[in-house]
Amino acid sequence: MSERAGEGTNFRNGPGFHGSCVVKLWWGHVLQVGIGQGGLWMTNMKSETCVQSTNDFSTLSKVSAASAGYFTDDFQKHFVSRTCRRSPLIHRGYCVRAQAITHCVNEFLQDTVDAPYRQVLSLGCGFDSLYFRVCGRMGVQRSTSIWEVDFPAVVHRKRLMVDQSQALKSLLKNITSPAGSDKKDAVVLDSQDYRLIGVDLTDVVALDSALEGSGIRWDCPTLILAEVVLCYMDPARSGNVIDWAGQRFLQSRFVVYEQFFPDDAFGRVMVDHFESLNSPLCSVGVYPQLLDQEQRFLQKGWQRCRVLDMNQFSASCVSESEKLRIESLEPFDEFEELHLKCSHYFILVASQGELADIPALRPVAEISTDFTVLPTPASSGAILARLLSPAVRGLRRFGHRSCLVSPQSVLTTGGFGDGNGKHQRLRDLHLLLQEQDAWSREVTTSQWGNYYVPQAGGIIIYKSSLCDCQR
Ligand SMILES: C[S@@+](CC[C@H](N)C(=O)[O-])C[C@H]1O[C@@H](n2cnc3c(N)ncnc32)[C@H](O)[C@@H]1O
Repeated sequence: MSERAGEGTNFRNGPGFHGSCVVKLWWGHVLQVGIGQGGLWMTNMKSETCVQSTNDFSTLSKVSAASAGYFTDDFQKHFVSRTCRRSPLIHRGYCVRAQAITHCVNEFLQDTVDAPYRQVLSLGCGFDSLYFRVCGRMGVQRSTSIWEVDFPAVVHRKRLMVDQSQALKSLLKNITSPAGSDKKDAVVLDSQDYRLIGVDLTDVVALDSALEGSGIRWDCPTLILAEVVLCYMDPARSGNVIDWAGQRFLQSRFVVYEQFFPDDAFGRVMVDHFESLNSPLCSVGVYPQLLDQEQRFLQKGWQRCRVLDMNQFSASCVSESEKLRIESLEPFDEFEELHLKCSHYFILVASQGELADIPALRPVAEISTDFTVLPTPASSGAILARLLSPAVRGLRRFGHRSCLVSPQSVLTTGGFGDGNGKHQRLRDLHLLLQEQDAWSREVTTSQWGNYYVPQAGGIIIYKSSLCDCQR
């Protein structure tokens, strides 16, 4: 499931890894147990530590995706002591995530190009390389400062890594906080246009005073990023952050990227996965739909809010040439999985002040016209549903696509389910037929006689199943 969820504790890469697993204890800790070169090792992790270690998983995944060419990031690799190669599915998930965050950052920089001064505040920054990317890619950004906030333990580690890397350190200007400075001071790194702050985001008063003390300005255009962060906080606490940001930053955009829609099979497995790692998704049940997320911000006074699931984002905000470039990077055929994953993550932009006058998440000019994206399964509207006879066994699957090919026949392709006693990708075609008002007769590929099956390039292509997720 970590493959599908794309985010999680880095339990596969424990010290001297040969193999490891996570065992949840009844008092809420998890034990990470593994066998490595040094023999058996075991770590007792409490919930806060588990949430922090989701950052390790993200960082390794970003390094892997960048080195496979999915996006340009010459700096993330300086935040890991070893690398690993993630699967193409994880690469694709991180790629669309990076595209979304980059899109929002670029939009903000473009929309505030005439402002004399602007700020980016990254909440739960982990080891993200944003400051270095912005400086490295575009040169010193005129009058732009970046603040990053995470738990003290995380930002102290980040500071250490910055100090140890010449490539990173050389991009910082006028560092005024010495390395290894007072552990009690919230400002862990202070430089001309980059600051690292160690604060628990659930304590909004401490967050406010650490930012104020380090010179943040409440009145100038500010981009607030929360990339897979609020989901790990109690919804009332993350609500306080949204509230606080709305009241303090008068000209701002708040960007959220995280999970939603916990109620289908994929969503339930996703929720269980994070629960088992002791980093539960705390707000996904309270704000399960895109509309709930949008309302959450509007009700807290944000003037404008736009939210897209990642299939919608990809379809409208990623250029056709970029999609083609990504297709050429490595072999990939797990489109149903990717499509499912993308229908459980969203990008949201809430705005206020003058920034609310400009729409966010604007489509790229060059939008593909030769494929259609269907609405996600979460779309609203009433449909008539009827239970199938238990004798229809071939449809016990998820992530599939069904299509009414005639009034009395439904063709189903793809998805995952039981195949010879194993949970696996299903490759058969399934035809469900209506006979005397009952949808009870089924035919699968193995029984097909005179049906015509289009085949191309060694894999079976069905337009009905693929038209919504790939060209
Ligand atoms: C999945 S990581 C994402 C890191 C980074 N935003 C990225 O996308 O690479 C989640 C981060 O949120 C941080 N986080 C979660 N809850 C937090 C809290 N209450 N206070 C500060 N940081 C928090 C974790 O420590 C972790 O670094």
